[in-house]
This record gives sequence, structure tokens and C-alpha cells, in this order.
Amino acid sequence: MTAVEAPGAPAGVTAGVGRTALLVAHARALEARRSDPLAVDPYAEYFVRAAPGCADWPCDPSDVAPGDPVWDRLAGYFALRTRVLDAHLLAAARAGTRQIVLLGAGLDSRAHRLPWPTGTTVWELDRPAVLSFKQQVLDTLPPSPPATTARSATPMAVAPAAATPRAVTTSAATTTSAGTPLVVTPRAVTPPCVTTKATTTPPSATPTALLTPPLATRSASPTPPSATPRADRRTVPVDLRADWTAALRRSGFDPARPTAWLAEGLFLYLPAEAELRIAAALDTLSAPGSTLAYEIKAEPENAAVRAHPIYTTARDRLGIDLLALFAPGPRPRTAEALTTLGWTTTTRTPFDHPTTRLSHRDPHDPLSANRWITATKTHPRTDHRIAG
Ligand SMILES: C[S@@+](CC[C@H](N)C(=O)[O-])C[C@H]1O[C@@H](n2cnc3c(N)ncnc32)[C@H](O)[C@@H]1O
Repeated sequence: MTAVEAPGAPAGVTAGVGRTALLVAHARALEARRSDPLAVDPYAEYFVRAAPGCADWPCDPSDVAPGDPVWDRLAGYFALRTRVLDAHLLAAARAGTRQIVLLGAGLDSRAHRLPWPTGTTVWELDRPAVLSFKQQVLDTLPPSPPATTARSATPMAVAPAAATPRAVTTSAATTTSAGTPLVVTPRAVTPPCVTTKATTTPPSATPTALLTPPLATRSASPTPPSATPRADRRTVPVDLRADWTAALRRSGFDPARPTAWLAEGLFLYLPAEAELRIAAALDTLSAPGSTLAYEIKAEPENAAVRAHPIYTTARDRLGIDLLALFAPGPRPRTAEALTTLGWTTTTRTPFDHPTTRLSHRDPHDPLSANRWITATKTHPRTDHRIAG
């Protein structure tokens, strides 16, 4: 643990807020094994399998009961979020942005798996122990891309609610409305996940072999994804509640160039004043044309929502008490603050994106309060300041 982590704070991905990164990565690992994935992240399973304390999480979608609050419903939400934000970032890249900053990057593998234009730099900011765990896993992967066929996500079915025409699909890869490949990843390999199907392998002469999954499924896949990122990847270990901008600048970030900022699954865990400070800081660091995407809860959740199985199952079965990890107190009006600084903002719900994966709302659904905000800095800086 380094100086920026509070004494006693749970390190890495084993507990505390770091474990939420593992939860999201596991959802992406499950998604990658689906026959109709919204996004394919071949790295996710490597992170999950290297982490302690999640060996009993389901390995394969066929191990997940339909309607399972976490591994079906919440995982479907995370898959959709991945898909939508992949498209958002690649749209910024197509528009010419070459600086991508992932705030609270966790086990996000976008630097490795998205087809960035030449000259793109992806910064990953997170707590030191999370980034260190991530690097340890990446270091076990081979440096060069595997020579395999490409696998993409399924045809685009997650349009933003805008009136613009939706994306179309061409033969080999999912495309955006601009016709550019959306997600082209190395073929999903068979990662070292031990599935329940292991017991269906031909029985050995020895009865214990039926109880112990074959060693082959525990070892590294024959064609793991590459450790080589598809952009210039730079990690910045910081506590985002403190000043992180100096470290970002020291790592080569240039505020004169447009940037695409992403805070995916981050602000829920930060105090309101930290969220506002981050918004003010990234406004200061953003040239016109910069973009931001982030996720919030639009309103406080009442007792019935807080008792929803998504929360109770994550707490009781996975040891992840999301409600305890969420920062208490009223949330700030960050979108309004950004507007006063010359940003245009758009707010969408996950249900605005047509996909069968989130086709209904449960009674007292925690996902109903979730909002995805996208913002673009259209004007140069003004004298306005965000009070944080
Ligand atoms: C729910 S995870 C999301 C990770 C990633 N964005 C994704 O969607 O896969 C939240 C991440 O925020 C990071 N985080 C939370 N509080 C932080 C802080 N004060 N400073 C830096 N990172 C923080 C956690 O370590 C964790 O990796």
C-alpha cells in the first residue's frame, strides 16, 4: 500500500471498493462467453481468475440461473454499459480525440481491446493496489497479439435514445453509424475458468478426477489475449479524492489537446465534494471538444429499493455491500455545474438503449435510478467555477 491509501483501507481487489472492480470484470467475463455478447472482453476472465475470494463465482452463462439478480440482471446492465461506453469513446476517437482518461479504471481493458487510432494515449487512474494487481495479471500474458480470427460483439442493439439512425452491422464486425468497426477483439479464448461443465468431461479411472476439474481448465489458455495494449497506455496510481491532476500532467497529459474522460462506475463511491472537485479539475484540463461520460444515481433510493435482491444478493453471496460502499448523502448536480462551464450534457437511462438484456424494470428496481451522462465541452473556459 502506498501513501495515498488511507491506513486500514482494504487494498487491491480483495475487499472494499476495489472488489467492485472485480464484480464488473466478472460480469464482462461472463458476457464474453455468451453466444450473443454485447461486448467481448477477453481480459476480464484473466483478472477474475487471478483474484482471491471469487473462485465460486459462476464461470459460464450456463451456470447462471435466469433472472439471477447479480449474474443475470446486474451483469446484463454492466455488459450494456460496457457496450454503450465503448461506442462513446470510439466516437470521440473518430472525431479526432487522442487522449483518453479512464477515471477509476479498475480492471477496464479498453486500452488493450479497442481499436484505437494511431497516436492515442489511454491513461488509467485508480488506487495503487488495484493498478498493481491489474499489472501483475497483464504481465502474465504474452506480449504479442495472438494470430487468431477476430471476434466481435453482436450486432448493435443498444442505440442511444437519440433520434439519429441506429448502427448497422456488416459482415465481420459490429459497426457504428459511421461505419467504423465498433469492437474488434482477439477471438475469445478459453480462459482458465473452471466451469461446472468440467464434470462432464470423460471420467477417469480414478473417482477423484470427477471431483477435481481437469488441470487443463485451470491453466492459462492456449491463446490468451496479448499483454500489448492497442494504445500508449499509462497508469497513474492516485486517490481521486485528493489532487490527482499533477500526477496526470507528469505522465504526459496535455490539457491543450481534446480529451475523452470516462468515469464508469466511479462517482457513486465518492463523496459529493470529491465528484464536484473532479468535475472542476477536468474542466480545467479540457480543451474545447473534450468529452466526458459518467454514471450516477439520479435520486436517493428508498428502503424498498435498498432491499432489492441485486443489493442483498451481492452483499450476502459475494460479500460486496454496494449500499455500504456508496457515498452517503445527497448527490451533487454535476451536469448542471458543467453546463455553466460551457459543456453540453445529455442524460440517458440504461432502459433508453433497446436491448433484450434490460427489457423490463423490476418493482423497486435499483437500475431505475441509474443515469449515464455524456457531456461535450463546446466553449473555452469561462470565469465560472464549480464549488466543490
Ligand atoms: C465499480 S469499479 C469500476 C471500475 C471500472 N471503471 C469498470 O467499470 O470496470 C470502481 C473503481 O473505482 C475505483 N475507485 C474508487 N474510489 C477511488 C478513489 N478514491 N481513487 C481512485 N480510484 C477509486 C476503485 O478502485 C474501482 O476500481
